[in-house]
Amino acid sequence: MVSDELIEEIRAQADILQIIGEFMSLRRVGRTYRGPCPLHGGEGPNFSVYPERGIFKCFVCGEGGDVFSFPMKLLGLDFVEAVKFVAERCGIVVPDIDRTESEEDPYRDIREAVALAADWYQRQLWEEKHGESARRYLLVQRGLPEEMARRFGFGYAPDSWRALREAAAVHEVADDVLIRAGLVKASERAKEPYDLFRGRLMIPIFNLRDRPIGFGGRSLTESEDTPKYINSPDTPIFHKGRIVYGLNWSRNAIRRDGVVLVVEGYMDLVLLLACGVENVVAPLGTSLTEYQARTLGRYAKKALLLYDSDRPGLVATFKAADELLQAGVQPSVATLPPGEDPDSIARKGGPEALAKYTDAAIDVLDRKIQILQKRGYLETSEGKRRAVDGLLLTVRATADEALRDIYLDRVAAVTGVRRATLERELERPVGGTRRRGRALLREAEVPREAPRLGAERKLLLLLVRDRSLVARVADQIESDDFKTPEYREIYRALTAAAAATPEQAAADSLAWADELPAHLFEQVQELAADPEDLTNPEAVLQDAIARLRARALEKRLSDLMTEVLVADTDAAVELASEIRNIRQELTALGYRMPGRGLFRGA
Ligand code: UTP
Ligand code: MN
Repeated sequence: MVSDELIEEIRAQADILQIIGEFMSLRRVGRTYRGPCPLHGGEGPNFSVYPERGIFKCFVCGEGGDVFSFPMKLLGLDFVEAVKFVAERCGIVVPDIDRTESEEDPYRDIREAVALAADWYQRQLWEEKHGESARRYLLVQRGLPEEMARRFGFGYAPDSWRALREAAAVHEVADDVLIRAGLVKASERAKEPYDLFRGRLMIPIFNLRDRPIGFGGRSLTESEDTPKYINSPDTPIFHKGRIVYGLNWSRNAIRRDGVVLVVEGYMDLVLLLACGVENVVAPLGTSLTEYQARTLGRYAKKALLLYDSDRPGLVATFKAADELLQAGVQPSVATLPPGEDPDSIARKGGPEALAKYTDAAIDVLDRKIQILQKRGYLETSEGKRRAVDGLLLTVRATADEALRDIYLDRVAAVTGVRRATLERELERPVGGTRRRGRALLREAEVPREAPRLGAERKLLLLLVRDRSLVARVADQIESDDFKTPEYREIYRALTAAAAATPEQAAADSLAWADELPAHLFEQVQELAADPEDLTNPEAVLQDAIARLRARALEKRLSDLMTEVLVADTDAAVELASEIRNIRQELTALGYRMPGRGLFRGA
């Protein structure tokens, strides 16, 4: 199996001109490149490559496609071979694939269930009487043209407990598949599993291969007793921290324009696309993750953040900006009028109205400075001290050396603190822990290629081998402290079992993992069989805990420091005391392992 993510990574890295150019000569004509078609062997310049869109087309033989279909068509490769062919040319290593395995998609049943549901929801919206209120909501209240609503795959989940489940049963989709797909829930209180989405407008979320993998469901009413949106839970094919909503539609425009617009909500994105703004994405309900930022960084080096201008919106803006800077993307910030979001602006005034705000966007550091100035931070020495902390967060996050340099000058200029002092401040271990925090984070994040390196994996390895340790670790590490979704789930299962049946901790079986879905159970087996010899397990355990703990604390610390900047006085005092506590705890963690260098080149 080559994962969808890897395929898209290869696609993003590949230079289609270089790959096609190996087989023919291309001449530039405006924004396209032309030459004689190597597929049908013509002589005229009828074969065009559109590098911005990553596709090719021959106007004589009609063949066309993307960077993968070219070698498939020209060299007769199958898809997996073509992926390898392209990957080699952009220096990406594709893990060796067992041919028989590559035909098999272990989550095919889940994918099919989600696709079936997407299709069924659509039919409920457009063809059934009970879809009428949702239709009206979408087309009239939200003002989305029908053609667009259909293009985005909108649907309707009827207000009934088991309508989807029953429809799926007709197609012989089993309950457990629906449950693993996040469409149906089993609960102790309900006799039978029931639909997760009921009485909601359904917004399918697509991966980069345009397959639906999850949903957002919007309530049709503004009511206090039900959440406005319900989203699919994470499933084997749907990880909210990894997927970027809308990227399947917008990635070519993003690459073309060199800038990505980031909005907060589904409807913001949809409305912008509907009025012709094409280079837009939305994270999924949470703040922009490191993974999402890195994904965007493959398509553009500039971002424009279009978030609400209230306090939570500002905090989210600065957090997202830090992630983007870390991924080598330069963010600027548009300030929308209070109470408005891109959706409401575009609905009332069309793209021109929105352009007024995007044209006035300013660099994120300048936006921070603007806010600090407005709040009087730059007038007192105490305020300046805090301003320095807040601004250095942004500087620290900046991966691009040149931009970092420019930022440092700018901070020196507005705070009056000498540049050399700021540079020393940046190097300071705790208090300015972010940078080193990132170093930890990169190592511990456990990319698929090098899972052995991570603290997350080490920790699980120890826990799987000796479950009597679980209770002790559970006091210090929450499942959300794990970044790798699979590991998070496994840790959850471990701690749940330890709490439910502590007496079994000594048993040498994997019974605790029985309830896990197959792909996770396989990972558990693999962990259990891993021969890695951890000499001095106690030290390894301490180290892994400290790393995960420090990472969580550092993240919290930098979030708090961002929140302080926009908080009112009372809130700021509270935040400041939490910041002090975290710093103390971080210092303590660092001291606990002299010589192990948690904060020294970890
Ligand atoms: P907002 O509360 O800003 O809503 O949430 P919105 O996008 O303006 O929604 P509309 O226009 O009223 O329909 C922003 C995003 O946060 C997530 C959703 O992804 C939403 O689009 N969200 C919000 C949730 O996941 N759950 C919620 O209950 C609310
Ligand atoms: Mn909105």
